[in-house]
Amino acid sequence: MITIHDKNFVPYISETEIKEKVKKIARQISDDYRGLKPLFVAILNGAFMFASDLFKELDIEAEIAFIKLASYKGTTSTGKVLTAIGLDADIHNRHVVIIEDIVDTGKTLHTFLPTLEHSQPKSLKLVTLLHKPEATVHPIAIDYLCFIIPNKFVVGYGLDYDGLGRNLKEIYQLEG
Ligand code: IMP
Ligand code: MG
Repeated sequence: MITIHDKNFVPYISETEIKEKVKKIARQISDDYRGLKPLFVAILNGAFMFASDLFKELDIEAEIAFIKLASYKGTTSTGKVLTAIGLDADIHNRHVVIIEDIVDTGKTLHTFLPTLEHSQPKSLKLVTLLHKPEATVHPIAIDYLCFIIPNKFVVGYGLDYDGLGRNLKEIYQLEG
């Protein structure tokens, strides 16, 4: 068991399990995108470790870009607006694969995907390390998924609890 800030976490998905699954998904993606020179777009901060390991395992020609999503209160009644900081690669007419750490409520991607679609990529797919189906508010089509998990808070392998825990090699789950 480990403690981060005020909470206890127990080991949940081992480093070995993660490595094996990342390799498997990377093989699938390589087979699906061979010759298409896809552009991977990793969403920071959470996806940095997954993106790095996944990208290393690809055996095709591919590019990667990193973006950060900043939310701010808009003046419209819908409230929050998401903007992508750092997407300098032109996604028009490209085969784009978004890399996420976790699809939880689906709110982030529900807001952000239309922005990308607006730039008319040739195709747009999503790979995520984790998915909590029980937490879904906005259903998101996930094309490549490593692990389905219950609706419990997790840390490690890039995911944080209030800034800490990202460096853990395995994934931990909130105790209890
Ligand atoms: P969304 O609810 O699908 O929009 O997810 C928003 C973001 O919340 C994710 O990209 C993660 O960065 C973060 N998040 C959701 N669930 C967890 C968790 O269990 N641990 C750490 N971060 C999480
Ligand atoms: Mg995230």
